Amino acid sequence: MDQDITLVSGNLQSEDHNENSLRPRRFSDYIGQVEMKENLQVFIASAQKRKESLDHVLLYGPPGLGKTTMANIIAREMGCSIRSTSGPVIEKQGDLAAIVTSLEPNQMLFIDEIHRLNRVIEEVLYSAMEDFTLDIMIGQGPSARTIKLDLPHFTLIGATTRTGLLSTPLRERFGIPLHFEYYEPEELKQIIIRSAGILNVQIFDDAALELARRSRGTPRISNRLLKRTRDFADMKTGGVITVEIVNETLSRLGIDDYGLDKLDRRILKQIIEIHKGGPVGISTIAATVAEETDTIEEVVEPFLLKSGMIRRTPRGRVVTEKAYEVLGISMPGYF
Ligand code: ADE
Repeated sequence: MDQDITLVSGNLQSEDHNENSLRPRRFSDYIGQVEMKENLQVFIASAQKRKESLDHVLLYGPPGLGKTTMANIIAREMGCSIRSTSGPVIEKQGDLAAIVTSLEPNQMLFIDEIHRLNRVIEEVLYSAMEDFTLDIMIGQGPSARTIKLDLPHFTLIGATTRTGLLSTPLRERFGIPLHFEYYEPEELKQIIIRSAGILNVQIFDDAALELARRSRGTPRISNRLLKRTRDFADMKTGGVITVEIVNETLSRLGIDDYGLDKLDRRILKQIIEIHKGGPVGISTIAATVAEETDTIEEVVEPFLLKSGMIRRTPRGRVVTEKAYEVLGISMPGYF
């Protein structure tokens, strides 16, 4: 395998390549996830005092909330280097063995989309995480045997959108599980103002808040919308982002006053019109709108739940009164 294991998975978000410059590099620049940051600062200081590696960290939550950014910050604050890979690119036990045997003491290993590691490889990770040893099988048939290799002490940082898909033994080997929450509009506003500074664009305070309010609680979306709004501002106001420019850009992009995009609205509308408001299962919804079940489950549903547009019931998802109101559809039984 290629020795340079700064691997990336196939599903890089389209603007990830230039998102880097907007990513904060230290806790002091990182806005939001306040409790997580405070706890991490204690765990890091304590590990440093004991001159030990940090316990393994599991970062979980919806996409775009800063898991990769946080992994890099943890490494930097620990004063350690980090090697990054992702679940789907580790195909064989040998791939993982090549990575963990070449780590330096106290180095960090970041595995994005860790829920997509296959089970056989997960099992190799157990002893690597717990005892810093690697049990690998060599040979086949009657002459096959396992050898045990000692590994340097390292910190595994796993990131996932779906903790439910991790096996219990793997999940339990992370001493520091951290859940990412959606950001508040005020936090996103600060992130937008910080990013605008880096991109050298001018934005009014009320325009930043309006963008923040309609960014689905997600910094990646705030930063993307900021760039698109800047494009319109460049053409119309000499580059200054006003609230009018924000409104025009978002309406052109199909993002409504609540921050719902076309897919969100399509899903709500289909649940109402085809499934009579629910209950309906996720895979039926996905089939109805011809999208991947994973996308609905990881990206769309958590936000619709959080914003009170749908509810989960034991028999499936149902739309709420708010969803009818937002879509301008009258509820059955209402005149
Ligand atoms: N850019 C993206 N996420 C950020 C965050 N949480 N804080 C500061 N800048 C960011």
